Amino acid sequence: MNKIGVGIVGLGGISDFHYDGLINNENVEIRGISDVDGSVLKKRSSEWKVKAYETLEDLLAAKDIDAVHILTPSTLHYAQVTKALEAGKHVLVEKPAAMSPENIRSIESLAKEKNLSCIPCHNHLFSAGIAEAKKYIEEGKLGDIAFSQFFASAVISAKAEDWGWRGSIEKAGGGTLIDSGTHLVYQAVYLFGKAEQVYAVSRKVHCSIEGEDTALVIIRHESGVLSSIIQCWASQDFEHMPEARISGTRGQLSIGNPLYDNRGVYHNGEKIAEGWPIGTTFTKLMANFYEAIVNKTEPIATLQQSYEALRIVQKAYEISAG
Ligand SMILES: NC(=O)c1ccc[n+]([C@@H]2O[C@H](COP(=O)([O-])OP(=O)(O)OC[C@H]3O[C@@H](n4cnc5c(N)ncnc54)[C@H](O)[C@@H]3O)[C@@H](O)[C@H]2O)c1
Repeated sequence: MNKIGVGIVGLGGISDFHYDGLINNENVEIRGISDVDGSVLKKRSSEWKVKAYETLEDLLAAKDIDAVHILTPSTLHYAQVTKALEAGKHVLVEKPAAMSPENIRSIESLAKEKNLSCIPCHNHLFSAGIAEAKKYIEEGKLGDIAFSQFFASAVISAKAEDWGWRGSIEKAGGGTLIDSGTHLVYQAVYLFGKAEQVYAVSRKVHCSIEGEDTALVIIRHESGVLSSIIQCWASQDFEHMPEARISGTRGQLSIGNPLYDNRGVYHNGEKIAEGWPIGTTFTKLMANFYEAIVNKTEPIATLQQSYEALRIVQKAYEISAG
């Protein structure tokens, strides 16, 4: 079988995880990379032994590239995904896939029109905890789900110069909620469905970013489940917080944070699965994406999740600003 040729655009922090996921995937071969920072491009090209393209347009014109991973600052995603789809490439775009639900719909319909696959990098759906939670919920092992809680916390530098594009609302689209918080929101959507009601408050505790560093969002899903989401870039105890708790009439699951600990998954206090390192979630997401392209099946991470997650995030920003 001919391998799927892949290009990577944006060669910063997250590109290592994409590189590792791709080189471990037998369906694909990395055939080009691009970044606006010439020194980063040169360094990666020599480390990875992959052809460097000075511009996105040059990379998109390459005939041996069939799919593109877009790993640039978040507010650039929509325009770059649109260009890649127009150029006939499949797309895997980092989260958040775009800045508004309307933009997600536009990408979705372009991908459909061009008969291409386009998915968001919702890699936390591939953690051991979420895989177990999906099974436990579908098999009714937790009974009727009453509520879920999702947390993410980290102490990140208070100094503005350490933040790069994440310090600017224009470049990041907001603060901690639309950035890391997107992971928590799409997990709630994946497990419990779209939101019927959303409440939110936010504040800035210590980070020198323009947006919020702490946000609390409450969701009533159409399924009836109540979810609370706490996303924070100003809290010390990230080592010991679970990423999620799910509680129903027959029991509860506690899921260790795949970023900071690997404590595993607990059902009513008993360990039922080990956690996986965060890199595994990227490898599994890519395996699922490229298998879906080869076998023409539906991938697990979808733009529909991005659409519902962005509706929640957008509403949360409206409410907390008001
Ligand atoms: N899935 C996850 O767990 C996860 C974790 C971290 C970051 N992310 C996402 O990945 C994306 C990138 O984050 P990062 O931490 O790697 O950022 P980063 O700042 O480390 O890297 C961004 C790279 O993009 C390049 N770039 C900027 N503008 C560009 C353009 N117009 N064309 C090509 N390249 C350009 C920069 O030079 C830089 O090398 C963001 O959307 C972020 O939300 C996802």
